[in-house]
Amino acid sequence: MPDYDSLHKQSIDYPESFWGNVAEELLWFRPWDRVLEWKYPYARWFIGGQTNIVYNALDRHLKNNNADKLALIWASQDNQEKKYTYRQLNEEVSKFANGLKSIGIRKGDKVAIYLPRIPEQFIAMLGCLKIGAVHSVIYSGFSAEALKSRIEDVQAKALICSNAYPYGKKTVESFKNVKEALKDSKTVKDIIVVKRTETNIEDVDEASVDPKKNYRFHWWSDLVSKQDTVCSTAIMDANDIAFILYTSGSTGKPKGVIHSHGGYQVGIYYTLKVSFDIGSEDIFWSTADAGWITGHSYMLYSPLLNGITTFIYEGTPTYPDIEIWWKLIEKYKITKFYTAPTAIRSLMKFGEEPIKKYDLSSLKILGSVGEPINPEAWLWYQKNIGHSELPIIDTWWQTETGMFMINPLPYTKSKPGSAFKPFFGVDADVVDEKGVSLAPTKSMSSAPGASQRLLESSKNMGKQGFLVIKKPWPAMLLDVFNNPQRYKETYFEKIKIAKTKKQDSFSDFCYFTGDSAKIDEDGYFWIVGRNDDVIKVSGHRLGSAELESAFVANPKVAEAAVIGKPDEVKGESIKAFIILKQGVEPSDELKKELTLQVRMQIGPIATPDEIEFVEKLPKTRSGKIMRRILKAQELGQPIGDVSTLDD
Ligand code: WT7
Repeated sequence: MPDYDSLHKQSIDYPESFWGNVAEELLWFRPWDRVLEWKYPYARWFIGGQTNIVYNALDRHLKNNNADKLALIWASQDNQEKKYTYRQLNEEVSKFANGLKSIGIRKGDKVAIYLPRIPEQFIAMLGCLKIGAVHSVIYSGFSAEALKSRIEDVQAKALICSNAYPYGKKTVESFKNVKEALKDSKTVKDIIVVKRTETNIEDVDEASVDPKKNYRFHWWSDLVSKQDTVCSTAIMDANDIAFILYTSGSTGKPKGVIHSHGGYQVGIYYTLKVSFDIGSEDIFWSTADAGWITGHSYMLYSPLLNGITTFIYEGTPTYPDIEIWWKLIEKYKITKFYTAPTAIRSLMKFGEEPIKKYDLSSLKILGSVGEPINPEAWLWYQKNIGHSELPIIDTWWQTETGMFMINPLPYTKSKPGSAFKPFFGVDADVVDEKGVSLAPTKSMSSAPGASQRLLESSKNMGKQGFLVIKKPWPAMLLDVFNNPQRYKETYFEKIKIAKTKKQDSFSDFCYFTGDSAKIDEDGYFWIVGRNDDVIKVSGHRLGSAELESAFVANPKVAEAAVIGKPDEVKGESIKAFIILKQGVEPSDELKKELTLQVRMQIGPIATPDEIEFVEKLPKTRSGKIMRRILKAQELGQPIGDVSTLDD
């Protein structure tokens, strides 16, 4: 067991040589001139370097004897299976990339992808990057409204979608949302439709011949079958945009997080390799969806960058039955399994019997992501899925960070419920509002009597504060699309850093994560949760403001305030406080109407759990709703400082 702390210290003392060495494991069309440049508030990595994620994810493996190795295995809900070797995947990607070119998509153009979890989703993503187009994947569960606003914001020239898709017992007629979203779209010139089911074809056919339509129409299969299987991979600057992914923030509309080709690939390649001890025979299963960052970084790109096999299951954890995941692990001999605490907690309810029927001995490492994993779920996961001994890699990171930031390694000592320490090259800390570190010092714990004074559970635990990152890391977001102001305000202006004596080149770097955390005496990080108005429902990120505006869009609603409440399975649930317009009577009917309204505006993941009609909301004198007070009251906690409260 190497000494983690000293290796880590070295990596953050010399981040440029550390990440420069990692980057040399990948291929570059042109080497970089400088590893890192930091000019407030932007960090740029591998300046002057030229590469392409696809060059490393596909082309590289065709050169080094991996061509006939499986890159991707897809299992459908209805027992179909598709397998692609690196050579085959490259051919499919090339055909699609040529298809994009044939309709006029060029380097830098934006392409929206609104597909379910099918191979075409991944082929489309890789196809975009191959020619230097920028993809923006929009989660298939988002509503027409949510789809529309993202397409408009990103100015997508093309949209890739499906006619419909199976989802558990239901069939989702996703093309209906597409039609709605494209109604008077000025940006989308072409749509490419993948046929996933035999349903809802008429709808597509009708749209394809609609004389009023302002886009060209292509069935995926028609477009792709005509294309050549060879397509050269575009040479990209390290800091060219690879993709834009929308995520919720605490204010306003979701923001488009931008990731690069160069730094991003280096960060995600290495974090998976080390944290999941990747070897050439691994079959990695991330249960995420490409609609979220996990689906980008660790379902698709990093497994391929590492030359291993990624496994994708189309369905949900409980369809066709609650044993499906364990059945698939046995059948496909999954070696590394990565899922979310909310899924673990919901499967815990069914007990251990459904698991015992299957041979899970192929598993070597388990992972967790999306929200804090409670010790009970951690222990259950290790005991029942991890044959009581497998390491659990609890990975803390964000859409913005692109890569794992705080997580254990397979050989480090775990404390269930803690995400261990910052990864190599990541300089994380917990600070107060002035940027002063709250990490406990060793001397504090060795003070006489200190350990007796503290309770066992909080033994030598530092104070709770803001989780920040104090040096740039390679997969960090480049910017917020179309909104550099928001980028600066959200991540770099929340904490005014206390001037340190040590004037290194990063002294003004303090990335604000939006999470609260504590550090214990051993340097372990304990993530508490968000400290802003972002709510995490089943690991999905939703903004209070975004939910409130969905409520207020109903003409019967005057005002709305939304909070997250702790939930045993989902992590958090959504509660809304609603003030109705004068003369509108509260009723259960109206609650149903408002619930539907939110589902229509955002999607089923935003379904409110509780709606309460109220007369008044706590506000500041300047009229801002104090959600903190609503939350404290709801949870029976002390209300705290009310000096700014109006009434
Ligand atoms: C937020 C980011 C990272 C991919 C999926 C979510 C929470 C994420 C953990 C973890 C505690 C976690 C944080 C973070 N979070 N992973 N292992 N332990 N909290 O990405 O949608 O951008 O959400 O998820 O609150 O800020 P995201």
